[in-house]
Amino acid sequence: MSSVPVQHQRVLSGMRPTGLLHLGHYHGVLKNWVTLQHEFECFFFVADWHALTTHYEDPGIIAESTTDMIIDWLAAGVSPGAARIFIQSRVPEHAELHLLLSMITPLGWLERVPTYKDQQEALKEKDLATYGFLGYPLLQSADILVYKAGMVPVGEDQVAHVELTREVARRFNHLYGREHGFEEKAEAAVAKMGKKNAKLYRDLRKKYTEQGDQQALDVAQALLESQQNISLGDKERLFGYLEGAGKIILPEPQALLTPASKMPGLDGQKMSKSYRNTISLREDPDDVSKKLRTMPTDPARGRRTDPGDPEKCPVWNLHKVYSDDKIKDWVQQGCRSAGIGCIECKQPVIDAVIAELKPIRERAREYTSDPGAVKAIIDEGCEAARDVARDTLDEVRKAMGLVQR
Ligand code: TRP
Ligand code: SF4
Repeated sequence: MSSVPVQHQRVLSGMRPTGLLHLGHYHGVLKNWVTLQHEFECFFFVADWHALTTHYEDPGIIAESTTDMIIDWLAAGVSPGAARIFIQSRVPEHAELHLLLSMITPLGWLERVPTYKDQQEALKEKDLATYGFLGYPLLQSADILVYKAGMVPVGEDQVAHVELTREVARRFNHLYGREHGFEEKAEAAVAKMGKKNAKLYRDLRKKYTEQGDQQALDVAQALLESQQNISLGDKERLFGYLEGAGKIILPEPQALLTPASKMPGLDGQKMSKSYRNTISLREDPDDVSKKLRTMPTDPARGRRTDPGDPEKCPVWNLHKVYSDDKIKDWVQQGCRSAGIGCIECKQPVIDAVIAELKPIRERAREYTSDPGAVKAIIDEGCEAARDVARDTLDEVRKAMGLVQR
């Protein structure tokens, strides 16, 4: 059970640098990040080590895509003022935590993660029978836990990895959350809250531990959250004490399911690099036009005079994303009566995509022409991320009995 109230939770997500970002990423992931960055403390990073697990034989694409991907994020509206933007391999604490967590993670947990077998099957041409690939989800757990993130925006395919993270965190807390003299330290911390609050805490704790009163737990957690005069360590101890457990060192995260991107590709399937049906975020307006003009339509409209059915046409899916009711009525009418031609029908979509990409392209151009500024944003993000990650590792090492540095 996660004990940190929602409004104080950190959001963390990562993306593998394996190529150009396209409109599918924009509508599926990036718009969501842009919203989240204003509501929570957000950490967004390039998962370059994760990319290596599958691209270790041809790592060129990783170096190529890393900066470009960050430029795409910035161009799409992810703001370095609101979110930490960084690169996984620049925060070595991810690797250290991965190693430490590997000590307590049963092999079976990793072998059972569905993506392990699925991806090996899907990427048959690659040899993924490696130690690194088996550890992929555990590295992801380290990514999440090193920031004690409460919420992890991911697509459906990644939910199992967040689930594993929860199990690993629970195991870690169970094994190492019981520091020497935990009860005494917890009791001392209770006393520090002041008479009135201490009594309230004890009553609520009793109600929860003895009667399972969930509401009492909620109230007690809110009480703890509002305490100003106890240290963070004491607070965590008291969160753990409340639930009858030890100290919660690594809180369990929740997956924040990103709704499946509704962005259709140029062929009606979901937009995805592997289907080669994408429009990139930096696509030139002429290329946007060309790609959309040559997009297939309802095959029934062989000639201009043949009526068609938008439901059988991938262009209609794009109208659903980009057009208002008036245009959609015009399409329905015009298509079914052969009143409009397909090129005519595509024009409002072409205009809308070009208009949507215009500010993104412009911002991307500004950043590409100023590599120093991009480097500064990345450096700053990496430093800020490291500060948090270092603190977590200090706690983790100590809990695992490693000598403090
Ligand atoms: N595995 C994720 C993907 O392929 C990327 C990723 C790596 C990630 N670490 C993460 C996502 C941590 C969320 C949190 O999409
Ligand atoms: Fe598709 Fe529009 Fe042509 Fe109808 S008129 S087939 S909806 S492109």
